[in-house]
Amino acid sequence: MKIRLINGPNLNLLGIRQPDIYGTMRYPELVVALRDYATKYGLKLEIMQTNHEGQIIDWIQQYEQYDALIINPAAYCHTSIAILDALLSVTKPKVEVHLTDISQRQAFRSKSITAKGVNQLFMGNKIKSYYQAIDYLMRRKD
Ligand code: DQA
Repeated sequence: MKIRLINGPNLNLLGIRQPDIYGTMRYPELVVALRDYATKYGLKLEIMQTNHEGQIIDWIQQYEQYDALIINPAAYCHTSIAILDALLSVTKPKVEVHLTDISQRQAFRSKSITAKGVNQLFMGNKIKSYYQAIDYLMRRKD
């Protein structure tokens, strides 16, 4: 099984950016930890990060290259109907994750538009939100 994991804008600054909110783990450490976690399941995890909305859409559209998708669209989850439309066009299992619980933060952050295009949403558990997404995909039968 090959899972594509797309991280959106500013997540490359993890550990540097607002560590009181997002934690002190640096982005490269997150990548290593997630790869280790995936190895335990014997699955291939392809981790990508971009600050650009169109790039996220292009990567989502390449559905022939993956079996399942995990996405943290970061701030684009609050604004991007284009990313929602791309997600809705993919019929493979899809999960959205957030490091923080967006429902408990500022009002402008409380809703995710893109979450309407995925099968499941995990948030508020920092890196464990990603682990929950992997666990969820491994539990699914399709
Ligand atoms: C985030 C939450 C978003 O509101 C924010 O813009 C991010 C990170 C999270 O993982 O908690 O960049 O997606």
